[in-house]
Amino acid sequence: VKTLGIVDGHSASVALVEDGRVTFALQEERPTREKNRGGFPGAALSVLLETQQIALGDIDQIGFCTSYYFNTDLSGRRAILDMYRSAFVPTERRRDWIEGVAPALGDIKRQQQARTSKVEALGAAASRVSFLEHHFCHACTAYYSCGNFSEKVLVLTCDGQGDMSSASVFVGENRKLRKLHDVAYQHSVGQLYSYVTFLLGFVPLEHEYKLMGMAPYSERAAGSARIRDLFQRHFAFSGSDPLGWSRTSPDSTGHGLARLIEGELRFARFDEIAAGLQMFVEDFVCEWIERVVKHTGVHKVVLSGGIFMNVKLNKRLNEMACISGLFVAPSCGDESNSIGAAYHLQCSTARAEPNGPALGPLYLGPEPSQALASAAIKRATGMPGIEAAQVADPDARCAALLSDGHIVARFAGRAEFGARALGNRSILARPDKWEMVTRINQAIKQRDFWMPFAPSIMEERAAEVLVGYEGGYSPYMMLAFDVEPSWHDRLMAATHPYDKTCRPQIVRREWNSSYHSIIRQFCDLTGIPAILNTSFNLHGYPIVDSPAEALDVFLQSGLRHLVMGDWLISKSD
Ligand SMILES: [Fe+2]
Repeated sequence: VKTLGIVDGHSASVALVEDGRVTFALQEERPTREKNRGGFPGAALSVLLETQQIALGDIDQIGFCTSYYFNTDLSGRRAILDMYRSAFVPTERRRDWIEGVAPALGDIKRQQQARTSKVEALGAAASRVSFLEHHFCHACTAYYSCGNFSEKVLVLTCDGQGDMSSASVFVGENRKLRKLHDVAYQHSVGQLYSYVTFLLGFVPLEHEYKLMGMAPYSERAAGSARIRDLFQRHFAFSGSDPLGWSRTSPDSTGHGLARLIEGELRFARFDEIAAGLQMFVEDFVCEWIERVVKHTGVHKVVLSGGIFMNVKLNKRLNEMACISGLFVAPSCGDESNSIGAAYHLQCSTARAEPNGPALGPLYLGPEPSQALASAAIKRATGMPGIEAAQVADPDARCAALLSDGHIVARFAGRAEFGARALGNRSILARPDKWEMVTRINQAIKQRDFWMPFAPSIMEERAAEVLVGYEGGYSPYMMLAFDVEPSWHDRLMAATHPYDKTCRPQIVRREWNSSYHSIIRQFCDLTGIPAILNTSFNLHGYPIVDSPAEALDVFLQSGLRHLVMGDWLISKSD
C-alpha cells in the first residue's frame, strides 16, 4: 500500500508511506531554494515520483494536510510579513486572515476542488484524495512516528493555528487516535510567539528560535519576569476546562492580542521581551500538559506542532515528574504533517519498532545520482586553487581534518528531512574551541551573534556528556539538555554559552554508520565523543540540495574543505 501526504500551506512538503513505513519525505524549499516555501509542493512531488520510480496513479490514497481552512497567503517570507503587518492595524482595516471566520461551505468545496485538480492533472484519481484536519495531521505525525502502540499515549498538538484550532488533545491507543479537546485559534498561545517575533523585527513562522536563543541571557532579570506576568494575564485555565485554556478578555482574542501587546511592550528591552516570552510559554505549556496528564491519567506523552520546535520548552517537559516518556515528532512544524497524513491513510499498518521510534532514521530525502556528483567533482577538478582527490577512507580523513582544527562541509547519502541537518548536509568542526564559532560564522553561516551551535554525539557516550540522558532517546535534535559540568570546556562551541545547555543529535551507528564512524574516529583522536554540527547552507537559504549547489556554496563561502562521497575537495593556500 502506498499513501502520499501533501502539505500545501506554509512549509510545504510531501511524504510517502509504503507498507507502514515512511520511505520518502521532502520539503518544497529544497528543490525551489526558497526557505519554508509554501503552496502546492509540485517540485518536491516531482522529485519524489522520480526518486521512487512511481507514477501518481500508483498511489493508493492521497491526503492534503488541512481540511477546511486553506490560506493561499502562506507561500513565502514576503507574504508572511505582509500578513503579520496586517495583524497590527485597527480591526476595520485588517485583512481577513487567520482572524478569518470559518469559510462558507461552498468556498471550502471550491478550494478542495482546486487543490484536488492539482494532483488530478498529474494523474491521480480524485476519488483517492482526502482532506485531513490540520491538528489531526500533527497528532498523526507524533503518534505514528513514535510507534508506541502497546500502551495508551497522550498526543498533544500546539501551534499558531491551523483549521481554526491552535492546540488539541488526543489519546492514542491500538493505532487509533481519539480527540478529547480543541483550543480554538482565537485563544492561540503559539500565535503570541509569532507576534513577538514580528515585533522584534524577525520573520514570523521562521525566526522564533532566535528569541529562544536570546532568552537565556536575560531570564534572571526583573524586567523579564514582569513581561512574563504581562503575557500571563492574557491567558487563563479554568476549572471547568481541564484540557484547554482561553484568552482572558474579548479584546485579547484573535489579532486583538497583537495590538494589545504592541502597546504593552513599548520601551521594554528586546532581551527581556525574548526572555519573558520564553518564560511564559514554558510555564504555560508545562502547566497545560501537567493538567492534561492529571486529568487523563496517561503519562506517556507525544508532541507535535510548531510550538514544540522550542527545544527549551521540551527540555522542561522532559524533566517533569508526571511525564514517564516523552517523544517529540521531528521537525514538528507544519512541514512534517505530510508524514502524519500519509501514516494515517494506512494507520492499521503503521509499523512499530522495538528499538526506537517507528519513523527511524530521518534520511528520507533524495540521494543525488552518481552522475550529478561526478559532474560537480569534474567541474571542481579543473579549477585553479582547488584540489580534488578521491580518498580511500573519507570518514577517517574527515575525522583527521576535524581534529586538526579544520572546518569540513559534508555532503553524503540521502538528505535529511526537515529543519535540521543530521550529518549528511552538515558543516562540522571541533566542539572544544570557541574560535570555531567565529570561524564558521565568518566562513559561511553569519548566524546572529547570540545563537549557539549544536553537537552530534555518539549514542554510546551520550549519557556521560548530558545530564539526565541515561535511557534517553534524542536522534532528531528536538530536545535540549544540560551539559555535564566536566564536559563544558570540551563542548563549548556546541553549547549555549550562557546557560550551558545544548540541543544534541544523538547518533546511532545503525542509523548512519558513516557519520557515526567520523565521530568515533574523531573521539579516538581527541577523546571527545562529539562534533559540532550545523546545517550546510548559506545564511537565509535552505540546506544545500544538489552536489552542484554544495560545490557552489563551498566556492562562494570561506569553507576550505568539502567531503562529497569519497572525494575531498579543498582550497589550496
Ligand atoms: Fe501547524
